[in-house]
Amino acid sequence: MNHPVTPELQAATWAAVGKPSPHESAQLHVLGQATYTDDIAELQGTLHAALGLSQKPHARITAMDLSAVRGSQGVVAVYTAQDIPGTNDCGPIIHDDPILTAELVQYVGQPIFIVVADTHDHARRAARLAQVSYEELPAIMTPQAAKAAQSYVLPPMQLTRGNYQAAFETAPHVVKGQLYVGGQEQFYLEGQISYAIPKEAQGMLVLCSTQHPSEMQHVVAHALGVHSHNITVECRRMGGGFGGKESQSALWAAAASIAAAKLKRPVKLRADRDDDMLVTGKRHCFYYEYEVGYDDDGKILAAKVDMTTRAGYSADLSGPVATRAVCHFDNTYYLSDVDIRAACGKTNTQSNTAFRGFGGPQGAIAIEYVIDEIARHLQRDALDIRLLNFYGRNDVEGRNVTPYGQTIVDNVIHELVAELEVSSDYRTRRRAIDAYNEASPILKKGLAFTPLKFGIAFNVTHLNQAGALVHVYVDGSVLVNHGGTEMGQGINTKVMQVVAHELGLDLERVRATATDTSKVANTSATAASTGADLNGKAAQDAARQIRERLADYAVKLYGGEAACVRFFDNHIHVNGHVVPFAELVQKAYLARVQLWSDGFYATPGLSWDAKTMTGHPFSYYAYGAAVAEVVVDTLTGEWKLLRADALYDAGESLNPAIDLGQVEGAFIQGMGWLTTEQLWWNAAGKLMTHAPSTYKIPGISDCPEDFRVKLFQNRNVEDSIHRSKAVGEPPLLLPFSVFFAIRDAISSVGHHAVQPPLNAPATSEEILKAVMAVQAAGVAA
Ligand code: MTE
Ligand code: HPA
Ligand code: MOS
Repeated sequence: MNHPVTPELQAATWAAVGKPSPHESAQLHVLGQATYTDDIAELQGTLHAALGLSQKPHARITAMDLSAVRGSQGVVAVYTAQDIPGTNDCGPIIHDDPILTAELVQYVGQPIFIVVADTHDHARRAARLAQVSYEELPAIMTPQAAKAAQSYVLPPMQLTRGNYQAAFETAPHVVKGQLYVGGQEQFYLEGQISYAIPKEAQGMLVLCSTQHPSEMQHVVAHALGVHSHNITVECRRMGGGFGGKESQSALWAAAASIAAAKLKRPVKLRADRDDDMLVTGKRHCFYYEYEVGYDDDGKILAAKVDMTTRAGYSADLSGPVATRAVCHFDNTYYLSDVDIRAACGKTNTQSNTAFRGFGGPQGAIAIEYVIDEIARHLQRDALDIRLLNFYGRNDVEGRNVTPYGQTIVDNVIHELVAELEVSSDYRTRRRAIDAYNEASPILKKGLAFTPLKFGIAFNVTHLNQAGALVHVYVDGSVLVNHGGTEMGQGINTKVMQVVAHELGLDLERVRATATDTSKVANTSATAASTGADLNGKAAQDAARQIRERLADYAVKLYGGEAACVRFFDNHIHVNGHVVPFAELVQKAYLARVQLWSDGFYATPGLSWDAKTMTGHPFSYYAYGAAVAEVVVDTLTGEWKLLRADALYDAGESLNPAIDLGQVEGAFIQGMGWLTTEQLWWNAAGKLMTHAPSTYKIPGISDCPEDFRVKLFQNRNVEDSIHRSKAVGEPPLLLPFSVFFAIRDAISSVGHHAVQPPLNAPATSEEILKAVMAVQAAGVAA
């Protein structure tokens, strides 16, 4: 049978989305030709700034002598708090973050002054020469200490459902305990940097490595005491952000701009690694106290958790982070009767901030720890306890409502876990590992299977909006600008694919520009994994408007109906005519058709009541699961990840190559968080792990030789951009499997009869301590 190949049929099979197109800057990255902020050619007269930092965790400044700083080689100016022309604040929500502190210092590393010199090196050397006298005050360093002192940056929050107390009291079994999960440095390869260039009449151009250009614009405007329209912030790309440049690029943007405004000269402020790590906030570490009741099968009947975070000295984003932790404590499990509490401990440390997952991983790991304990207590495979507690399938009434009241309509965890259970050969390998451990007294293997569910949307509803501009030039080439920022995650590639798809063009015909506050206004941070979702939709809206105008014009020229005009393969198909896109554009220009458009998107259907902690905070959920197998040396605490299998639900992936890269990267990054990356403050309150020499992120040799990462075949039930799902943060939860595999290996030392007291990060030292605790408990029994 021969079907005629109609334009409709051809158009239906042609696509620019869903393809594994390489990252738009991949070649530039590997050739060293991608421009980062520090690569931008410096203007004549450019000066360099450095920050003078506090040496005490909590103290009053009694005297400050900056004469040696001023007299140091190459120094042009020194500025303290009173030199700031506008507001001395760079806090994103609550205004408790001074740019420069004047009197009270609240952590070691808090900026006190800005020194500006002819070179970067001279500025840094001068910054060390300050003579500051302090009157020391008691410091609070840990979440436990903050909790004991009731020292919080915000009022504690609580979410309850059902009757926790009654359910707990009647439960056949209970598990109670504490857990500590450490923080994590973002360790973006490109550090914080801003380059401020004064423009005429109070104008300032700030070239800044930031996830949030609009916020930088506001902070700089306030600091300089001018209106936002005077400030332009531009970011072509970041060398990684990972949440660390969502709010905390503001300090650097403000400091560079203050100096530039005062001196009327361009000023660059580039943090070196030690200063970056000493000054900026990290992932929140969490301290948990939990108690959970369950039945003989392992079904959870009542769950209570009290989480205290190390927020640091100010609020920053700690409130929304704690909220997301509360909303992810359930992970993939239906919890009928709960009491979930979170408090943001005020500590004399860096102000902790966003980091990939934004509290979600910290919330979910607690319930996974509990399930791990239930399984060991019942002598059951932990996967079976997990399966038993999963949210119900979508067609099952009742067990599909989260503690915060959102009904889950897209649950695929059952199917996804079933697929991974088979493809990873989980059950067979479990038996093989048991046999291996029986025969191996020193080296012990461990295996774990962990699921994830992650809510997609900013949990602050109004942030879920985006804008874009699409320009079609007369030669038929296309330029897209949107409010999102490129940090390596591939947002530009995805947005370019969306625009190319809408206009029926090859990806090569579309180019994306730097993010620029003078092009799209009032943007949200590129965060919460929503960058491609929001900006993709906004760019699609813009491109559609141009396409519709072109279709109308094509009908004028060639006849037919606008609704039947098809755009694909770089051509327009209209009423039997096939016209090259560039040719139609040429003609449209001469006919004075508008060839550019703006676009806008606001995620529908979201709501949140912060008082009751209920509503519909997420547009949809992304799902995933992973299996990890490790071997642990029980004499040294050293370990190795032998194999990892991961399956992730990216819906109809916009770009499977980029998404697989995101899953792999998040897996390894999350593994670092839970194993080798340890933040350590000394007795004087100074963070001592402030460089790669003392802070161990994963390297290539830490990646498993056998790493099987796949995308789950799915389609978003929500009308997301081309039915894709977000991918940036959720896979950071996949390496829970590594942590619990290590715990499983340790557990085998005591024949799985003792709960290994393992906290995160599971460093070799922590592993060894847990092994010894299990051995001691075995001897005592
Ligand atoms: N991937 C790379 N390569 N670099 C990054 O800094 N940040 C992560 C994730 N993936 C990050 C990354 C974080 S914290 C978020 S919120 C998302 O990307 C943001 O991008 P998206 O919303 O466009 O996915
Ligand atoms: N993620 C990142 N940033 C945010 C969020 C979030 O969920 N909510 C508010 N700011
Ligand atoms: Mo990502 S932590 O939301 O920047």
